[in-house]
Amino acid sequence: MKFFADTADVAEIREIKDMGLLDGVTTNPSLIAKAGRPFKEVVAEICSFVEGPVSAEVAALDFDGMIREGNILRKIAKNIAIKVPLTVEGLKACKVFSSEGTMVNVTLCFSANQALLAAKAGATFISPFVGRLDDINIDGMELISEIRQIYDNYDYDTNILAASIRTANHIRQAALIGADYATAPPAVLKGLVKHPLTDKGIESFLADWKKTGQTIV
Ligand code: E4P
Repeated sequence: MKFFADTADVAEIREIKDMGLLDGVTTNPSLIAKAGRPFKEVVAEICSFVEGPVSAEVAALDFDGMIREGNILRKIAKNIAIKVPLTVEGLKACKVFSSEGTMVNVTLCFSANQALLAAKAGATFISPFVGRLDDINIDGMELISEIRQIYDNYDYDTNILAASIRTANHIRQAALIGADYATAPPAVLKGLVKHPLTDKGIESFLADWKKTGQTIV
């Protein structure tokens, strides 16, 4: 499974990269607002040290506006994936960008049918929002399973990018189902390393090592 950092915070992205976990980055208007920096500037900085896809979302809702904005965003770097919402206009823009060889991340997916349409429009990534479905008592993982089955039934190339990931358990479940990617806040990605028995094991090994009175260097 590939991991994207779901943040526009450059320091956080660098840390995930240093841990060897980073396959790309997703941003959205809320994350850009949180970073408090000019959109194009921060995306350019991210692209300067991230080799994988970096999603940058259009703000326009109409087809012409999405094309205009996407044309500006894709010039920032070769690894930009244009993020468009799952609407009729977004699907039209997806079709144009993907036919021109630009990666497209179709975002705000909440149903299997929406995911089917995104695949037909040539999306590189479909972003089903697991956490936001869980928030309204709908099982987000069931959506990931349905999309996996549909994409496999018809051999669609579109990658399932499990999004709106809130917990380590979301990652585990999405990986078991076979989601191709997960995008998660850096804190969730870093949290995957945690296990109390690891901490306990380190503690007892350290105590025993001290008893030997030895040093390695
Ligand atoms: C996906 O690309 C989105 O940026 C993100 O996963 C949304 O997550 P949220 O529901 O925690 O805002």
